[in-house]
Amino acid sequence: MATINDNYLKLKAGYLFPEIARRVNTFAEGNPEAQIIKLGIGDVTEPLPEACCKAIVKAVEEMGDRATFKGYGPEQGYPWLREKIAIQDFQSRGCEIDASEIFISDGSKCDTGNILDIFGHDNTIAVTDPVYPVYVDTNVMAGNTGDAKNNGEYEGLVYLPITAENNFTAEIPSEKVDLVYLCFPNNPTGATATKEYLKKWVDYAKANGTIIFFDSAYEGYITDPTLPHSIYEIEGARDCAIEFRSFSKSAGFTGTRCAFTVVPKTLKGKASDGSDVEIWKLWNRRQSTKFNGVSYIVQRGAEAAYSDEGKSQIKQLINFYLENAKIICDKLTAAGLKVYGGVNAPYVWVKTPNNLSSWDFFDKLLHNTNVVGTPGSGFGAAGEGYFRISAFNSRQNVEEAMRRITENFKL
Ligand code: MLT
Repeated sequence: MATINDNYLKLKAGYLFPEIARRVNTFAEGNPEAQIIKLGIGDVTEPLPEACCKAIVKAVEEMGDRATFKGYGPEQGYPWLREKIAIQDFQSRGCEIDASEIFISDGSKCDTGNILDIFGHDNTIAVTDPVYPVYVDTNVMAGNTGDAKNNGEYEGLVYLPITAENNFTAEIPSEKVDLVYLCFPNNPTGATATKEYLKKWVDYAKANGTIIFFDSAYEGYITDPTLPHSIYEIEGARDCAIEFRSFSKSAGFTGTRCAFTVVPKTLKGKASDGSDVEIWKLWNRRQSTKFNGVSYIVQRGAEAAYSDEGKSQIKQLINFYLENAKIICDKLTAAGLKVYGGVNAPYVWVKTPNNLSSWDFFDKLLHNTNVVGTPGSGFGAAGEGYFRISAFNSRQNVEEAMRRITENFKL
């Protein structure tokens, strides 16, 4: 019989969001009359920006015409999209990022997992706690951890607590780590990072040969003009960071699928013979072997996000979700709950009332108000006692969910 990758057996039962969906489905089956409002998984609800739609429709027509039909595209993405990204997302902010350093993909979730293909198994890896669970689970799958401990943490990973006391920004570790995942604006806490804070990480990384995996999938939600959108706004970050970006939460592409990863050519890792190796070459080799690129149609849709029309429609979309976040923060605060985030981010991080555990609060909210959120403990041990509410939903649903929570739920 074929053997399996035993590392999968170390994983907790289910990935967080399918596990929530399973519990919600069970509840819905038993309560068919319940009008459930889902503020759990951060999945967008509003339609694609019109500019992206139009570009997608045009691209579909091109694919139906022999003269403009396209077969395989470049595995790294079409140059016209990579160039727009390099210029508008990075060079316009003073970041020295070239189009050749942008790799178009079908999602940041996939890329943050896949990136591990090109790194060794002997690295010391740090994650924040709480954390986007993909970073942890993909390291477990890759064999980069030991078993799960009783508190759910995995042996072999370095956990950096993010708490209200440190404004949900991890302290720079006293020990040396080889890889560290940072996510700003943060999922799940909605915290942001200043340039000064990121500079400390870049200085640490350069001093220790650390590579920072910087997930900025939510950068579009930054409204404070003093906050950096990219780690490459920090001098020296080209030599120590890979950045993950996505069209999912900005242009509403969660179902359309387009993202990109920035791998600067100056970034180096160490081979086992001691020589320095360009990380870009390995990622390029990995992508051209295991990936055939994002569809032409979708890339044309993503390109339209950079048109004047697209940019203004995306701004409206983001403002819409940010207004939802403000409504959630205001209503929950008025109801006596302590809330964090939700200002430069689409997530509101709520302290559970009366010392309820995260899952108890989840169950109470589901049963008493038919509202779904995400238990903070699902993001890590330090998320216990917290709860994440996503601002991704229609205005009507957000207002109705807040009405039910404030009126019907005994806080
Ligand atoms: C979340 O709810 O944390 C996100 O939807 C997860 C994701 O983007 O994969």
